[in-house]
Amino acid sequence: MAEIQPITIDEMYGVGDVGTTQQALDRSYVTRRVDDLLVMIDDLEIGPGDVVLDIGGREAWHCLALVQAFGCRAVSVEPVAGNNDRARAAVAEHPLGSHVSIRPGVMEDIPAADGEFDFILSHDMFFQVVDADRALAEGFRVLKQGGHLLLYQTFATDRLEHRERAGLYADLAVVAERMDPDDFEGRALSAGFSIEVVDIVGSEWREASEEDGVHLTSRQLLYAARLLRNPGMLRAELGDIDYRVELGNALWGVYQMIGKLEPRLYVLRRPEA
Ligand SMILES: C[S@@+](CC[C@H](N)C(=O)[O-])C[C@H]1O[C@@H](n2cnc3c(N)ncnc32)[C@H](O)[C@@H]1O
Repeated sequence: MAEIQPITIDEMYGVGDVGTTQQALDRSYVTRRVDDLLVMIDDLEIGPGDVVLDIGGREAWHCLALVQAFGCRAVSVEPVAGNNDRARAAVAEHPLGSHVSIRPGVMEDIPAADGEFDFILSHDMFFQVVDADRALAEGFRVLKQGGHLLLYQTFATDRLEHRERAGLYADLAVVAERMDPDDFEGRALSAGFSIEVVDIVGSEWREASEEDGVHLTSRQLLYAARLLRNPGMLRAELGDIDYRVELGNALWGVYQMIGKLEPRLYVLRRPEA
C-alpha cells in the first residue's frame, strides 16, 4: 500500500474557506435512486405475457411490485418456510396476488422447467448462496434463450478490514467467496452467461435515501452505536441471534455508505443458441 503523507497543523488549520467547503458538502451528488431498478427492468422489455422469477423472493415484495409494474406473472423461489408463509399471506391480500406463485426452494435446485422464465431477478440474495456454480447453472437452465438475469448484490472492497469482515459475514450468513466481484463475474461467464451491464451503485442509492429522508442509514448508524455500547442489555432483551442480525444489518448499511461494501447491478444474458 502507498505510504500516506501526513498533513501538518499549518496545512490543516491554514487553508480552505469554510463557506466553500460547506457548499461542496451540502451539494447533492445523486443522479439516481433505488426506484431506478424498475426502470432498468422496464428497459429489458418485461411485459404482459412474460413470466419472471424472483429468486430468494423472501416475502414476495418484489414479485408483487413486478406484476403491478409490468402486468407479468411472477414466481418467488425462497428456502425459508416462515418467509414463504408471510409471502402467501401478502399475495392473498393483494389485488394482483393471483399473478404470483410461491415455490419453496433454493437457487442451486430451482423448482422450475427448462426455459420457463423470460426474466430472473436476483435481488440481494446471492451473498447467501453456498454453491454459486450450481446456482448460476440453474439460473441459466430455467431462463429462456435471449432472456436476462438482473442481479443486485453487495460486494466487499479493500476498505473492509479482516475483523469487520469476519464478524459481519458470521452475523448475516454471508458466504465469503460471494463477496468478490471478480469471482462472481468469472463464474457467471463459465455458466454461459454474457455480462451486458456492470453498474457500480456504491453509496449512491443510500445517499439518495438519506437526502429524501427515507430508509435512513444515519438511523442504522445510531442503532449500531446503541447495540455496540449496550451489548449485554440488548443481547438479553433481543436474544443473541436477533442482536447479531440487527448489528449486522445496521453495519451493512453503514459500510455501504462509507465504501467498505459496494452494491452493484449486473445484467446477465443467456445468449441464443
Ligand atoms: C436479504 S434477503 C433479500 C430478499 C429479497 N430478495 C429482497 O431483496 O428483499 C435474502 C433472501 O435470500 C434467501 N436465500 C438465501 N440463500 C438462498 C438460496 N441458496 N437460494 C434462494 N434463496 C436464498 C433468504 O432466505 C432470503 O429470503
